[in-house]
Amino acid sequence: MAFFKKRENIPEVDFQHLPHHVAIIMDGNGRWAKARGLPRKAGHAAGAETFRTIATYCRDIGLEYLTVYAFSTENWKRPADEVASIMDLLEKYLVEAIGKIERDRVKMKFFGDLSQLNERLRRLCLETEEISKRYEGCQVNICLNYGGRDEIVRAARAFAADCAAGRADPAALSEESFSDYLYSAGVPDPDLVIRPSGEQRLSNFLPWQSAYAEFYFTDVLWPDFDQRELCRALAVYQRRSRRYGGV
Ligand code: IPE
Ligand code: IPE
Ligand code: MG
Repeated sequence: MAFFKKRENIPEVDFQHLPHHVAIIMDGNGRWAKARGLPRKAGHAAGAETFRTIATYCRDIGLEYLTVYAFSTENWKRPADEVASIMDLLEKYLVEAIGKIERDRVKMKFFGDLSQLNERLRRLCLETEEISKRYEGCQVNICLNYGGRDEIVRAARAFAADCAAGRADPAALSEESFSDYLYSAGVPDPDLVIRPSGEQRLSNFLPWQSAYAEFYFTDVLWPDFDQRELCRALAVYQRRSRRYGGV
């Protein structure tokens, strides 16, 4: 890959056999900023740049799906000025992304309850999704005001409503048909879930979809995460043996 200057340092990745779907919990922005004596929002700004780098790289290496955790249903507990700065960054990011979508050819989707976002941001998300429909190639799912349990409860509610209306039958519900009620409908489950920043928990990220995912944890903080770190994770993933309960 052109990005690496010294070939000997390339983590050994078989780019012909990449996982179909990689999911990342973009964590550690606050600690990255603190370590530099910067306000937390500077960490979020740096994290947004990392997202741009990683999404572009995933597209370049031919990854089919990338899903990132940008803002959780729990993140509203943060101070109002931090929430506002994250929302501002998201707006700025989407305005830029919309301008470059023709060139970047990354298909974007949002997983989460967008109705709680401010009107401008919500419209930007919908516009981005609409334009994205024209593109094939790497699909980037951005989890925004996303919570895994919330997603499952919404799905259950929608299924119950379909049953009440005679459109669905409880006896016919399967894991596959239930999946169609989730934000991730139509997207294969993540093969690999990466969490930087040293935390080893899911924090309500894709609990249904990650039931059989491989996990990769690293102490690197998200703003410091780069193509090489992603390749490390991919290389580790490729050495794992996925048995799905078999032998
Ligand atoms: C992740 O970084 C970004 C969001 C949750 C929006 P954090 O802000 O959680 O960074 P730390 O965990 O405090 O370092
Ligand atoms: C998870 O990170 C959410 C996102 C990265 C968007 P948090 O920093 O919010 O998770 P906890 O609080 O450490 O569990
Ligand atoms: Mg965090």
